[in-house]
This record gives sequence, structure tokens and C-alpha cells, in this order.
Amino acid sequence: MGGAQVDGPVLIASNRGPVSFTKGDDGRLSAKRGGGGMVSGLSAVADESDMLWVCAALSDGDRVAARAAPGGMLDRDQTGPGMAVRMLDIPAAVFQRAYNAVANSTLWFVHHMLYDTPSRPSFGPSFAREWEAFRRYNEMFAAALADAARAAADGTPARAVIQDYHLCLAPRMLADQAPGIPIAHFSHTPWAPPDYYRLLPDDVGREVLTGILGADHAGFLCQRWADAFVDCCETFLGATVDAGRGQVSYRGHITSIGVHPLGVDAGQLRERAAERDVLARMAALAGATDGRQLIVRVDRTELSKNIVRGLEAYRELLRTHPEWHRKVAHVAFAYPSRHDLPEYREYTAAVQRMARQIEDEFAEPGWDPLLLEVDDDYPRSLAACRMADVMLINPIRDGMNLVAKEGPILSDHGCALVLSTEAGAAAELGDNALLVNPFDVAQTARALHEALAMSPDERRRRSAALAAAAAAMPPSRWFSDQLAALDRLAASRARVG
Ligand code: G6P
Repeated sequence: MGGAQVDGPVLIASNRGPVSFTKGDDGRLSAKRGGGGMVSGLSAVADESDMLWVCAALSDGDRVAARAAPGGMLDRDQTGPGMAVRMLDIPAAVFQRAYNAVANSTLWFVHHMLYDTPSRPSFGPSFAREWEAFRRYNEMFAAALADAARAAADGTPARAVIQDYHLCLAPRMLADQAPGIPIAHFSHTPWAPPDYYRLLPDDVGREVLTGILGADHAGFLCQRWADAFVDCCETFLGATVDAGRGQVSYRGHITSIGVHPLGVDAGQLRERAAERDVLARMAALAGATDGRQLIVRVDRTELSKNIVRGLEAYRELLRTHPEWHRKVAHVAFAYPSRHDLPEYREYTAAVQRMARQIEDEFAEPGWDPLLLEVDDDYPRSLAACRMADVMLINPIRDGMNLVAKEGPILSDHGCALVLSTEAGAAAELGDNALLVNPFDVAQTARALHEALAMSPDERRRRSAALAAAAAAMPPSRWFSDQLAALDRLAASRARVG
């Protein structure tokens, strides 16, 4: 595990697991790597024999695989070498309510501040049913973790590392079911400041906070999100905060607060990007863009990623700086995400509408100003990052944004990074990026111009500094730091006890 020290079994829990299954026309299951920043970070450390990863069955294919596996323990042939995975067959109705209605339509919206508040949210009677399902879903994870901890209890006690907003109640539930197990929780999202967090029903807001405070260690991607969490604990629970020690105490239990800015394993990523499928896509992209400067973005089609304003900024650049016509192309990859939610389907349509407007206004024979792709192709994303002159990362709000880190690491000749101040990554990359307010389209257009006009030397210098910062905390270190924080806490408790 990249040299990290891991003693005793480690239990990981997350909604999305490292594999997902689809059922083919012939009824056979095929396995594929799970998506998203959290899964790629954890996959890099989870190939240890002493780890068990508990995740939910997300699709019908997953449910078939989970039911076929004894106790949901997937066969190691299906999961990759050394990875033990238990996939929970959560009843479909419970899962839909927990994942779509609560996790993605409520908690995600609150933490990313995505609501159009004159009309949403509106917590009517159906929310009570959805919240109950969310509790049930968290209980199923807590029970699976408690089982695994008991099974491991004859040797060194297990430690549980619970991921993200989907599982914010599970730390408290697990602490109640299996007292004494060291528990960490990690938030891969931003955390809402108290004035926005208030949108949640009062009891729900408190239950989320007390859920996470069931953990011994609560981790965040940057100081800003950690501070917002602590502020919410103070405001809504009256918890006692020891800012110097980075601790919150509530009802006699102390939770330490840690900032662990997940980064990239540069060697592994570059190795992957040197494979033949990536080289083939680089050749195809070079053919399509004909030596022009490339502005690249790679995102899920996610409301918080701000793709429409990113395209507007590109349109503004072409309107205000005609000198770039025919000299630049924007490669925008916007992969499908959360299409069960109507807002996401509408957002995808809005991205496509804006792309058509740009084509209508600027395309000429021999110059395609925009290449928008909406189907997922990982090697093609790597190819585009290797060739990028400018990376555009302008989220409304983002826990970290790993693409901001991957871009400079992958870049062959150095790329300029136009980066939102609202991405967690800005805390580490801000000095060498061109920072923008994600709502200020005119400013973003000016930053794109500056990035395109930057001298190759300046670009290389900044890109090298960005790549170094991006590689500073590879997943193995990010993970072992959290375990070390848990161990320190256990040791200090043993001394006190
Ligand atoms: C973000 C979240 C992850 C999530 C990912 C993909 O990175 O922090 O928890 O797995 O988005 O979202 P999805 O809903 O497709 O799992």
C-alpha cells in the first residue's frame, strides 16, 4: 500500500464500491471499475488483503451479483487482486429514497449550495418517509461493519473508515453497535456554512451532525470545509470546540477534526496514460484539432461543475478576442451522471443547447471550435489532459476536484490552470493557477485569454509547480494519515483510561 503502515484489519464503507456490474443480453454479468474521485482514491489503497470494502448494490446488475455471492462477499476474481468486497443488497425502494431523494437531492444540494431557494427545498410529508429510508440504509452499513469487526475481533481490533455524505449517520450507529471500534468518517464534499445548513429540517440537521460525531476522527478535504462543519456543530448542537487541538466534544465524546487533502499518485497515473489506448486517442484528437491550442475540461455532467457557465465563458472569449478564432478548440467532456434525477437530465440538455449555440455562432469550414462529448471514455480523458494547453475547472463548489490535480500531472508540455476559488483544490493550487469566481463569466473569459496567451516557459513553470503540489498527498498517504490519527487517539485514550 505505497509504503503506508496498516496494522490490523481496516473496514472501508462507501455507497459506490470499486466495481459495478452490468447484465448483458445473454444474461452474463460484466464488471467495471466504479467512478468518481472517492472511488479512485480508495481503490489505490484497497488492494490490501487485510481490508474489507463494504458498498451498496447500485444497479440491477449489482443486485444480481450481490445475491449470487454468499453473504454478499464478491468473488475476488470479480473485484481485482486482493480486494475483499461485500456488496449490500439493499432493497431497491430503500436505496432509491436514500440515494436519490436524501443523499443526492438533499445533502448534496445543501453542501454544494445548489438550491434555487424560491422554490426548493420543500420538506413535505414524503420527506419523513425518505429520511426513514436513509436511516435504514445507514443501519444496513453499520450492521455489516459491526459484523465484520466482530469476525476480526480475535486479532488486532478492526478500524472502520466510513466515507461521505451518504453514510453520515453510520458512525454513530456503528459506535452504538460495536463500542470501542475506532471509527473515522471522511467527507468528500464541501460542508455548508451554518446559514445554508439551516435549510435542513432542524432535527435532520442535528441528526447528521451527531451521526458524524459518532466517529473518533472526522476528515475533510480542506480547512474551509472542516471549519464549516465545526461551526455547524457549535451552532446547532452547542458542541464544545477546542480549535487549538482540532477537537469537537459532544455528550462526553471527543471527535478529532482532520484536514486530509487527497492528491494523486503521479507515477501510477502517468503509467496508465502511457498505454496504447491513450496514445490512439491522442492521435485521434490531434487529427480533430489540427495543432490548435486546446482548452480542456473533464467532468461528470454535475450541476455543481458549472459546465454551462464554462461554455458561456468560452463563447465570451471568442466574442471578445476574435484573434483566437481558428487558433483554439475547446474539448469538453461531460459524462453522464445521476440521470435518475430530473435536474441532471435537464442540465445535460442545457449543456448541449449551449454547445449548439457556440457551434452556430462560430463554426467555420475547417474549424470546429468545440468538441463536446457526453459518453464516458477514460483513456480519451487522459489523452485530452496530456494534450491540454489550458485546463478549465470552474465548479460552483467542489470538495476537492481531482481533475485540477490530474491535469498538470498528465500534461505533456505544461498546461495553464483556470480554477474556481470554490474548489477545495484551490487551497493547494491557488498560487500557480488563474483563480476565478465561478459565477463571473466575464472574468473566466479573461482568465482563459490570459491562459492562452501565457508564454510556454511560464506555463511550464507553473504546471510543474502545480503537478508537485498535486502529487504531495497520494491516496496511500491520505489514507494512512487518517488511520494514524485514529491510532493516536486510541493511544491517548488508553493513557487517560
Ligand atoms: C463525488 C462524491 C462521491 C461519489 C461521486 C460520484 O465524488 O463525493 O461520493 O461517489 O461523486 O457520484 P455518484 O452519485 O455517481 O456515486
